[in-house]
Amino acid sequence: MASQKDILLQVKDLKTSFFTKKGVIKAVDGVSFTVKKGEVIGLVGESGSGKSVTSLSIMRLVPQPAGKIVSGEILFKNENLLNKSESEMRELRGNKLAMILQDPMVSLNQLLTVGYQIGETFKYHGKADGSLLTKCINILKKVKVPSPETRVNNFPFQFSGGMCQRVLIGTGIANNPELLIADEPTTALDVTIQAQILKLMKDLQKEINASIILITHDLATIAQICSKVYVMYGGRIVEKAPVKDFYHDPQHPYSEGLIKSVPVLGKRVKRLYAIEGQPPNLINPPPGCRFEPRCSKAKKVCSQKYPPEVELKKDHQVSCWLYS
Ligand SMILES: Nc1ncnc2c1ncn2[C@@H]1O[C@H](COP(=O)(O)OP(=O)(O)OP(=O)(O)O)[C@@H](O)[C@H]1O
Ligand code: SF4
Ligand SMILES: [Mg+2]
Repeated sequence: MASQKDILLQVKDLKTSFFTKKGVIKAVDGVSFTVKKGEVIGLVGESGSGKSVTSLSIMRLVPQPAGKIVSGEILFKNENLLNKSESEMRELRGNKLAMILQDPMVSLNQLLTVGYQIGETFKYHGKADGSLLTKCINILKKVKVPSPETRVNNFPFQFSGGMCQRVLIGTGIANNPELLIADEPTTALDVTIQAQILKLMKDLQKEINASIILITHDLATIAQICSKVYVMYGGRIVEKAPVKDFYHDPQHPYSEGLIKSVPVLGKRVKRLYAIEGQPPNLINPPPGCRFEPRCSKAKKVCSQKYPPEVELKKDHQVSCWLYS
């Protein structure tokens, strides 16, 4: 267990739901995890498992009016973000807490120059002074945008997707955040650009020593920059493991399925292994393990009670009846 002073973020039994006409969607249903200072965590799991809603909850940006954080605690530097006022949260966002989203073209305002948009980050947090332009140029240099002195006056549509993502990352790290959440930051980009952006994030992480929560479907990306992996399934975390254990010795049947579904680089496979069946309905989730209908190792208890989290070894926990 990490000592309290090493811990930056502690999420405890977080529950976030959407109150819709069809019913209450329990998107995040009892999620607990910690992120240490300077640690890079990968959050994985299939579409709809609650990764984005977990990160939006941390930022207190759950989509309104249907979304609501129902219960739990989000301790950031030992203070519960759920007790903060909206203006206190605004002060934290883009400053100590930052988030980078999937599609840079949508996230940037097409009508404002990139320099203006980076500059806003400084002004918003009361750090603007006469050398604002120099600061913006320095950010563009940091994220390796070529010719930053001229590019600072360009509009986003004059940039490629990869360059726009660099600008967004620049905006995210402008105020040296302590926690950066990157929700599929490379999904919209082509493969070579993805690799460049990842390298950039890795370098910047070392430079500013931020903790990062990286959400991605790409397990190869996780292997490159994360030290731990948290696996989500049906609104819960089912396994937390050091990245090496996750790849070589996954313990939860769902994690095993994820690993099997990755083609081995350079090896020809006849057919990719895919996990059969559908993810659970989050309006009326079954009382037992949510993976039970798709699990080949299920036993009787699995459909009756949700499995408790078991610590297999240091930093490796799993919620599955095979271990209880
Ligand atoms: N604005 C919303 N209104 C209603 N339900 C929502 C809303 N946003 C998300 N949900 C529901 O919450 C659940 C979790 O969604 P979330 O976006 O967190 O999944 P995800 O793991 O990020 O998936 P993906 O990999 O596709 O991004 C899903 O069932 C989704 O339908
Ligand atoms: S708890 Fe049971 S159903 Fe769920 S993953 Fe473990 S063995 Fe499978
Ligand atoms: Mg998402």
